Amino acid sequence: MPITFDSVHRTFKLDTATSSYIIKIFDENYILNLYYGAPIPETYFPGRECRAQNASFSLANPVITENGFTPDTAPIEYGCNGAADFRISALSVRNFRGDSVTDIRYTGHKIYPGKPEIPGQPSTYVNSDDEADTLELYAEDCVTGVKVTLYYTVFKNCGVMTRRARIENGGEGECELERAFSLCVDIPSMDYDMISLYGRWINERNIQRHPLAHGVQGVESKRGVSSHTQNPFVALAARDATEEHGEVFGFNLVYSGNFSALAECDFNHTTRFIMGINPTDFGWKLAPGESFDTPEAVMVYTTQGIGEMSRIFHRFYNNNLIRGRWKTQKRPLLINSWEAAFFDFDTDKLIAFANVASELGVEMLVMDDGWFGKRNNDWTSLGDWYVNEEKLPGGLAPLIEGVNKAGLKFGIWYEPEMISPDSDLYRAHPDWAVHVEGREPMIGRHQYVLDVSRKDVRDYIWDRMYEVLANNKIDYVKWDFNRNISDASSAILPKEHKKEFFHRFILGTYDLMNRLVTTFPDILLENCSGGGGRFDPAMLCYSPQIWTSDNTDPIDRLYSQFGTSMCYPASCMSAHVSANSRTGYETKGNVALWGTFGYELDPRKLTEEQRELVKAQIAKYHDTYWLIRRGDLYRLVSPYENPYRAVWEIVEEDRSRALLTVVTMRRELAPHNIVKLRGLDPDRMYKNDLTGEVLSGALLMNAGIIIDGLAREDGSSDAIMFTAV
Ligand code: DGJ
Repeated sequence: MPITFDSVHRTFKLDTATSSYIIKIFDENYILNLYYGAPIPETYFPGRECRAQNASFSLANPVITENGFTPDTAPIEYGCNGAADFRISALSVRNFRGDSVTDIRYTGHKIYPGKPEIPGQPSTYVNSDDEADTLELYAEDCVTGVKVTLYYTVFKNCGVMTRRARIENGGEGECELERAFSLCVDIPSMDYDMISLYGRWINERNIQRHPLAHGVQGVESKRGVSSHTQNPFVALAARDATEEHGEVFGFNLVYSGNFSALAECDFNHTTRFIMGINPTDFGWKLAPGESFDTPEAVMVYTTQGIGEMSRIFHRFYNNNLIRGRWKTQKRPLLINSWEAAFFDFDTDKLIAFANVASELGVEMLVMDDGWFGKRNNDWTSLGDWYVNEEKLPGGLAPLIEGVNKAGLKFGIWYEPEMISPDSDLYRAHPDWAVHVEGREPMIGRHQYVLDVSRKDVRDYIWDRMYEVLANNKIDYVKWDFNRNISDASSAILPKEHKKEFFHRFILGTYDLMNRLVTTFPDILLENCSGGGGRFDPAMLCYSPQIWTSDNTDPIDRLYSQFGTSMCYPASCMSAHVSANSRTGYETKGNVALWGTFGYELDPRKLTEEQRELVKAQIAKYHDTYWLIRRGDLYRLVSPYENPYRAVWEIVEEDRSRALLTVVTMRRELAPHNIVKLRGLDPDRMYKNDLTGEVLSGALLMNAGIIIDGLAREDGSSDAIMFTAV
């Protein structure tokens, strides 16, 4: 049983394959966290309930002051506002009397197999009920009537727990949520580094690592999307943790809107970490009896280093987050028209692309932006989802027929949550743009955001999409989102509900995506937001792959791909070979091979030599398809730590093969570099397909291989397969 209740000590023990977590119902029904760490047999151990007092003045419930207990320093399981816990709080409710003091205490619990869904929101899932147990922990503020349910799902075969909360107004009058975080963890030390992923457009998810310090620190988004600039992922790694060793907590929020992930270290040198919806620009009114569900947070714990944390996330996301037909079925290898043609295409050109691509072995043509309205540049037509018959005479049918005749499937681009001021839709419904009354909204890429918090707007957009998708043979949709949300308000939201806008907007996005994947379950959906501006676990519930970055230069991509791989698997990391990059085709291919792989170029312009290279790459793509998507990733040499090269290895699930890739960013003159392989079977012999040498897994992992002869020039690379013989 991954979840047990010790009724003598009133503790809950939550055991994953790599962690134990103990919750204690303390005196006065305070809910405390006693432990989160490596597996232990005990269901209880004393001495962790009360910590040193006198943060400044000790405040406590008089009944239990004698125990040395004060909420200010206790490991409170879900810290609330206003009742003597002065650290960052997970919950703040402005109650019907107008104050925001909230003090929740345990009232009961339920443990059951399986995992419930969150109404209207994406979340991870169980494939069968015996994969995980769920604990619902009930708590209540007996003065305000605020009720909280804390949900914990514990996956017994991997190192993962998920958490979320439901807040219900059980009081007499309306209340307003000011903060409602998904998780709160009190860790009895601050000897950790915070690892997070920062970036910008064309440079997403760079790795940042820094020691925790006293005070509050963290990452967040206020952009209406999870964003290019920070990702809803944070790891707390022991100071000495490396890729291979040491204690690491990994946290990832299943949410595509404004998030906040904060750590506060106090005078006791303890750390409180919270993750959830960003409280800035957030509020949610609850009438008596109404409730609010927070998004879900995924928690991973391991003592085996940062690399193992990533592998736990990867396996979990491949098995328990990504869903639908394309979770297990091989996805078509695509060529995308964007970098090849931008807005300048017509039926003939696209069919010509398809014919040449087909000779190379490509399986699907994706027509990117520019096929609708008068969309000949990015100033116009978002919202007018009607085929531009000047470019595509006779509509989509002749084009799709031509593409299919070439032997390729067909995909199409949409940006459903946007509206161009120069569009028929905007002229008909200016109030459908996200805006504040009396203020001209900010413009980004010449476009406004469409108010998908409104059901009437969603219905309209869905009808337009449905018409195209239902009446044409479309195998794939790329869903884009090319600006951040400013002027956040909806024309129809009453004044007292305006703070709900951002969350309502993302619920609207989820609703639209859900309509797409449930109505057209065979369509392969790929997410995108100006590259990787909405690369988060919530989007992976709808689309098994996300465009990683508009930067397709393989050397720049190394940084984004190393960062993205912190928690996201290769199966979702969309990566293409393009014409626009500094290196030759070998390196473009070797780097893109680490992701979903595809092309983003005019295939007619390839030289004969490049065509042969592309054919060879495609053969390699097929050969390594499941190895890359299901295998174990080892980041052996990080470009963040080594100015010369990046090296990674992906090991087939059954350890029968491993693909080692070495990319030289800058030639190193000092020779003798050894790379030790990882994850092989020490007792098997492996053949190096470059040299023909046969060596044991033990030798390859302990003595390693000398890589000086590999990838000698700037921008060059080698990908070597080690196959068990
Ligand atoms: C941004 C995306 O990241 C690109 O791949 C492309 O689809 C453009 N938008 C089209 O406008």
